[in-house]
Amino acid sequence: MKYFIKTFGCQMNVYDSKRIADILHNIGYTEAHTPKDADLIIFNTCHIREKAAEKVFSDLGRTKLIKDERTEKDLDTVIGLVGCVVQAEDGEIAKRAPYVDFAIGPLTYHRLPEILTKIGRERGTTIIDTDFPAEAKFDFLPENVSQGGCSFLAIQEGCDNFCTYCVVPYTRGAEYSRPIKDIVEEARRLVATGSLEINLLGQNVNSFHGEDENGKDRNLAYLLRQLAEIDGLKRIRYTTSYPSDVDDDLIACHRDLEMLMPYLHLPIQSGSDKVLKAMNREYTSKDYLTLIEKLRKANPKIGMSSDFIVGFPGETDEDFQATLDIVNEVKYIQAYSFKYSKRAGTPAAVYKNQVIEKIKEERLQILQDLLFSYQLKFNKESVGKIMPVLFDMKGRHKGQFLGRTPYMQNVHANLDDTYFNKIVDVKLIDATTNSLSGEIVAGKAK
Ligand code: SAH
Ligand code: SF4
Ligand code: F3S
Repeated sequence: MKYFIKTFGCQMNVYDSKRIADILHNIGYTEAHTPKDADLIIFNTCHIREKAAEKVFSDLGRTKLIKDERTEKDLDTVIGLVGCVVQAEDGEIAKRAPYVDFAIGPLTYHRLPEILTKIGRERGTTIIDTDFPAEAKFDFLPENVSQGGCSFLAIQEGCDNFCTYCVVPYTRGAEYSRPIKDIVEEARRLVATGSLEINLLGQNVNSFHGEDENGKDRNLAYLLRQLAEIDGLKRIRYTTSYPSDVDDDLIACHRDLEMLMPYLHLPIQSGSDKVLKAMNREYTSKDYLTLIEKLRKANPKIGMSSDFIVGFPGETDEDFQATLDIVNEVKYIQAYSFKYSKRAGTPAAVYKNQVIEKIKEERLQILQDLLFSYQLKFNKESVGKIMPVLFDMKGRHKGQFLGRTPYMQNVHANLDDTYFNKIVDVKLIDATTNSLSGEIVAGKAK
């Protein structure tokens, strides 16, 4: 039996898809190269903005055609949905796509083997499982092994912040942190099977507070220091952080731990205190800037990244200008920016002072032009420097590999296979906004 998984959304979904693949390998499935060859097609879905959620349903329509073609050849196809759309729209799925065989929320995919057995017995209905279960799915997953030089590791899930625009507290549930022992074990296994870099994931990763072996509550800084002891691990990252939850211990880690990469994704969303308040973010722009000052004092080389929302209900030209001011102040080396998207069930969706689409579009364009100019400037300033790059992806052409610098910049280089999934010193020779090219500096891979 063969499976095909298509992943939408954030890095947590990428991690979840990998773990779903692990479950399927455990029960005898292998990966199909295209959905046409798959007996089981799974979409791991995202509900964060309207576009993301609607894309799932349009892609599903195409998958139905594949299912029909396979049926004509007497081949059975099971279609499943997992992820945040399922949690948010469980009532709609059977109506909008009745040919979907199962739909499981992000917290119950460990039950996939039972669900597949059940489907084997009864076809024709959509099995839905959107529990927020008492048990943690992590306790029921197969061992996580590395697939390359760089791995994700979920340490925290869910969110209690309830920003007024965001679906995550409803789709991923309340905050949950995994026990330290389990995380360290998973990290050791990833390193033992080839990972040089681990990216710790959580919707609100720096609110992590896991129990140590003695039942004592510990913070993210404690966990980072434990992980830094693992022999063979070269790089650690963590994402995504909430500004008010960055504590002094965490800042000290950026001073002390060399393997903690000098890059931090710390979303501010807006530079206007009025908008931040309406978003229910718990900091002011001044708090945020003070925090960045402290981080830069701890590690002067740190590069910052952020998420931004433009056109949040009530955002005026002055509010938007405050966002541009923050960008000019911080000089982000990378950032993600979005137009505000109304999400049913969130408070901001029914705010009366919605911003019209045309203004949202104009503001997004202005913001992105400014963000890209800083990103390009940083990349251009990197040209001529030698940086360690972890190459873990193959490029389009033979012998071309794609990797990342400590600052998360994409680097292309032509290398021989011995350097794949290794960290190599690379001289950066050319830069665009989104990537750099480089050539290897004589020497050994690390
Ligand atoms: N937990 C992270 C972000 C998770 S969602 C944090 O708090 O920063 C990823 C990003 O999507 C958010 O940072 C935000 O910029 C964007 N986003 C979330 N909901 C959105 C909405 N309704 N419309 C537009 N962008 C949104
Ligand atoms: Fe969403 Fe806010 Fe939680 Fe981030 S902190 S996941 S934006 S509710
Ligand atoms: Fe999307 Fe869910 Fe991640 S809504 S951004 S897949 S947490």
